[in-house]
Amino acid sequence: MFVFKAAVLGAGTMGGEIAQVIASADVPVVIKDVKQELVDAGLEKAREVTQGQLAGLVGKEKITQGQADARLEEILGLIAGTTEYEGFGDADFVVEAVPEKMEVKQAVFAELDEITPGHAILASNTSALSISEIGSATTRPDKVVGFHFFWPASVMRLIEVVEGDDTSEETAQAAANFAMQIRKNPVRCADQPGFVVNRVLMSAAAEIWHHQEESGQSPEEIDKEILEAKVTPMGPFFLADMSGLDVTLHVASHMRESYGDRFYVHPMMEELVAAGKLGQKTGEGYYRHGGEN
Ligand SMILES: NC(=O)c1ccc[n+]([C@@H]2O[C@H](COP(=O)([O-])OP(=O)(O)OC[C@H]3O[C@@H](n4cnc5c(N)ncnc54)[C@H](O)[C@@H]3O)[C@@H](O)[C@H]2O)c1
Repeated sequence: MFVFKAAVLGAGTMGGEIAQVIASADVPVVIKDVKQELVDAGLEKAREVTQGQLAGLVGKEKITQGQADARLEEILGLIAGTTEYEGFGDADFVVEAVPEKMEVKQAVFAELDEITPGHAILASNTSALSISEIGSATTRPDKVVGFHFFWPASVMRLIEVVEGDDTSEETAQAAANFAMQIRKNPVRCADQPGFVVNRVLMSAAAEIWHHQEESGQSPEEIDKEILEAKVTPMGPFFLADMSGLDVTLHVASHMRESYGDRFYVHPMMEELVAAGKLGQKTGEGYYRHGGEN
């Protein structure tokens, strides 16, 4: 199946950039959130990211400023925003990126099932929830699949294509093809806690979180040391703030529940989330980001 038009549900940390990635591959896309200001924030994110990418190409003298300006308008012209399901009626592929809560996912998948054409693939960007359970809210569980981007979606090349119990081979293959159509590298994996990447990432993070507890060093100090060692492009505590501490905590807790003590949840992260300090999106987490908080 070729995707002529896509849709994205949720314009938060992930949604805006996912729409940008899709439009940059010249596929028209519509993005929905519950309030106009949230849709606008997602569209603004798409503009910022596209401008940054094009400025990079101008800087390397690969394109002229005039070409960059024209391409910016072309890409942004492919993205429509809505607070209703306007434009979802002829979408071939939907990426859902709403909050990581099963009841929310199931409610929106039931709506998507109603509103989209029968052939459309309904994909979830869930980090840790069961694709089989999400798919059970629809009349087409064979067309429900995980499509897990990584933050920041405009930069990270990998997408985990997660196959639930009922996902058909055709759907999994079409999702992998769509990942390549939008210039990403798909890795197909089973519907198991953490899929592939979070099993690796969360076990490494667990060691760092233990180290923070045992040493009493601040998250900033540890990030600085890791950055100086040039092992990752950003420190793990900063990355968690950027991804959203609520999302990271949910994944870490899910891994501990699923696999036991070999995974760990950072107590400081639990305290921050309980205090509503979710990282960059609320202005404060391990760091202060100069936002509303
Ligand atoms: N943040 C990350 O680093 C990251 C990485 C990979 C995957 N994910 C996954 O992506 C999903 C979204 O995460 P996020 O960090 O973007 O969350 P977020 O909280 O930043 O954004 C979610 C958005 O969905 C919107 N929303 C809620 N109900 C909706 C509805 N019925 N229709 C349309 N929009 C609705 C919210 O208003 C919000 O803007 C989660 O499943 C998460 O696990 C997150």
